[in-house]
Amino acid sequence: MTSTSTDALVKVCSYYRDAEMRGSNLLYRMLRHVEDPEAQMNLSEHLADETRHAWLWTKRIRDLGRVPEKVVDGYQVRIGRRAGIPRNLIDLFALTVVVEQRALRRYQEHLRRDDVDEETLEVLRKVSEDEGWHLDWMRKKGREFAEKAGEPERFDASIQRFREIDAEVMQELDALEQSLA
Ligand SMILES: [Fe+2]
Ligand SMILES: [Fe+2]
Repeated sequence: MTSTSTDALVKVCSYYRDAEMRGSNLLYRMLRHVEDPEAQMNLSEHLADETRHAWLWTKRIRDLGRVPEKVVDGYQVRIGRRAGIPRNLIDLFALTVVVEQRALRRYQEHLRRDDVDEETLEVLRKVSEDEGWHLDWMRKKGREFAEKAGEPERFDASIQRFREIDAEVMQELDALEQSLA
């Protein structure tokens, strides 16, 4: 690998690492507020997965002989700026679902490129593997919370709102990427 391609890879891995760390932080917040015992159990395993994902990206960077770069203005920061951090569980679950779907799409898109080294492919596969059950259980529980709160539409409406914010942020990031190219 040339030093320019290593630079680019370290940057991408640092972004992925940052997103996994911020995702973990969101889950930890939920873990402190949720009373539902099944959600406590799932959140614990989910949090363990996300911190492992963050570690796998960190390790990929270490294996390249580098250190992680600080990410100041990534996807998650931009989402937070537009959406704020929701104060109630239904919205927190909805935000997590939208953010996880975005991460999964990003990983799948990266997996399809034809210039990816074997070690990076392996990390991409491992981190994508867990996303199916993450999305499943959060969707189910989010809807259940909304129904129990007597607002059955709230979860899906909240997902819709965060999807719109996600689309705006992605447009912003695409424009930024193009202006740098
Ligand atoms: Fe993850
Ligand atoms: Fe996840």
